[in-house]
Amino acid sequence: MNTQFLERQSSLERQAVALIDLHPVPADLERLAVEGLSRVPKQLPAWFLYDAEGSRLFDAICRQPEYRLTATETALLEQEAVAMAAAIGPGLPIEFGAGSARKVSPLLEALAPAAYVALDISSSHLTAACGTLQARHPATAVLGICCDYSQLQDLPAHPLLEGQRRIGFYPGSSLGNFEPPQARALLAQFARLLGPDGCLLIGIDQPRAVASLEAAYNDRAGYSAAFASNLLVRLNRDLGGSFDPEAFSYRARWQPDQCRIEMALVSQGQQVVRLASQDWTFAPAEALITEYSYKYTPEAFAALAGSAGWRPRQRWSDPAGTFSLHLLEPQP
Ligand SMILES: C[S@@+](CC[C@H](N)C(=O)[O-])C[C@H]1O[C@@H](n2cnc3c(N)ncnc32)[C@H](O)[C@@H]1O
Repeated sequence: MNTQFLERQSSLERQAVALIDLHPVPADLERLAVEGLSRVPKQLPAWFLYDAEGSRLFDAICRQPEYRLTATETALLEQEAVAMAAAIGPGLPIEFGAGSARKVSPLLEALAPAAYVALDISSSHLTAACGTLQARHPATAVLGICCDYSQLQDLPAHPLLEGQRRIGFYPGSSLGNFEPPQARALLAQFARLLGPDGCLLIGIDQPRAVASLEAAYNDRAGYSAAFASNLLVRLNRDLGGSFDPEAFSYRARWQPDQCRIEMALVSQGQQVVRLASQDWTFAPAEALITEYSYKYTPEAFAALAGSAGWRPRQRWSDPAGTFSLHLLEPQP
């Protein structure tokens, strides 16, 4: 190891986590809530679920035995990180919706990048996750950017981000939260943001037995239900809403025609809720959709990615064929 390298490494070890906050302002929250409650059926953006408590509850969901996605994807990353890093090549990893940023560790070990960027909308959770990750990977400078990645046209200016090839990492099958036209638009936006020499490693959950899918989104311990219900608590706190969370029940159901799980809060009776200076009427059994989770076969996902300017390069799958990590490169 030469002196220059040691100096560089020791300066990175001293580096504090850098954080940039581009968080949406409350006026955006109110406008989007009004838009969503005006839809038929009523539906709010999935990212509304992730305040500090929502992020904590999502981590608890990931630990439930019914929610196999996290364990499956983590195992794939641990087993295949070296092969993935060889296929990916050097650059700056940028994780979309990093959450607790636990899955990226094997990739950081295999890629040994100078810097890593975590994007997430949940600011306090992102701050904590970046601190933990920085301690685990002292030779990689960790930068957190609190933002809505679906609105991010480019990265903000920062010395850590300059002149590096960009490697997108989008685990957790979070693409499934977007309806297919929006998912296509998001993949195309990522292609622009990552650039012509970039690439994208993306985790995609696949269709399987209905009972196993529905159980994954409605765990026995009740974390999925609490995660959805916390959305109403957030609307009350951040937008002065008058939701009674007890007056809604949680439902997760597979919709085979759309190849998706629909998660919703169902009104237990006729009720009127006040939010953003308006009254919102809920009929008995009326649903407020909190989130979708679309599932894609590898072929269906390759077609979607292809229509968004990407070319499938390599794929790693679990032995049961329930989940894949796809490495995509830009179409020439
Ligand atoms: C399903 S969790 C996945 C977390 C982690 N990547 C994993 O695979 O376990 C989605 C994460 O993305 C974040 N998120 C959701 N929508 C977002 C958006 N539009 N912009 C930025 N972050 C978002 C949430 O705060 C949450 O941490």
